[in-house]
Amino acid sequence: MTNKRRLQKLSPVAGIEVEGMDLASSLTSHGINQIKSWLDSYQIVVFRDQYLSREAQSRLTSSFGPLEEHKGLSGSGDITPSLHIIANIDSGGNPVRLDPSDHNLFWHIDKSYLSNPVQFSILHALETPKHGGDTQFANLYLAYNELEPKMKERLVGLRARYTRGASKMVGRDINTDIQYANDQNQQSTVSHPLIHTHPSTGRKLLFLDIHADHIEGQPQEQGLKLLKDLLEHATQEKFIYTHNWLQGDVVIWDNRCLLHRAIPNFAMTANRRILRRSLVRGFNPIQA
Ligand code: OGA
Ligand code: MN
Repeated sequence: MTNKRRLQKLSPVAGIEVEGMDLASSLTSHGINQIKSWLDSYQIVVFRDQYLSREAQSRLTSSFGPLEEHKGLSGSGDITPSLHIIANIDSGGNPVRLDPSDHNLFWHIDKSYLSNPVQFSILHALETPKHGGDTQFANLYLAYNELEPKMKERLVGLRARYTRGASKMVGRDINTDIQYANDQNQQSTVSHPLIHTHPSTGRKLLFLDIHADHIEGQPQEQGLKLLKDLLEHATQEKFIYTHNWLQGDVVIWDNRCLLHRAIPNFAMTANRRILRRSLVRGFNPIQA
């Protein structure tokens, strides 16, 4: 293809920016494998100045694997199941304040509460605030590496239970949450091992998010305390890359080894922030 490709690391923690690739044109399998290998090495791949149509984003996403349809309500009325609009706008398109209980604002792994959580997530910035409106990512390989050896031992064989909504982790009541109540299909409870081996890199990582509220075989309170401590450990500043969006950005990340959250650090009633999301169906996490 082109030899004008340039790579730039975005942080010591995760992330690489790739210049010289046009995602709107169909990528060859070599191109897709190249992106997958960057994802294995850097977890997040950022492309600037891409203006993808809905069709182009669907095509790009499906070249990584089957599309994961989104069954929940989207903030903006875009109901195409495989393209999900994440936005702070009302039905008239006016910018509004984000609901502080929006789960995107809490540390999560996309669809951790499914038996096969999402493999790759893609966000495409259609409109961005002048300042802020960042997304943060926390590297779960590093979180695992820096656990005390005793803690690593203690976690072997433990499984966390996930419930969509994570009521207990962030103090919300799933039963009164309309967004989740509308999402009947995704309310089953699943469990995943706390320590995983990444299926592609073979590296170990700590796996949990706000949707985890229970450790199997432990009293609720005790399990929840451990989960909270582990989430706090995993989201220390030193494990975080913060992405500052520019319009046209496409960010692809490996959802199997990162936590992420939106930061409401922008003037919400004055700026529209519109991202288009698509997801690649996942894997069954492997016990370390
Ligand atoms: C998401 C998400 C973060 C953001 O769409 O899954 O977590 O910054 N978005 O909007
Ligand atoms: Mn997300």
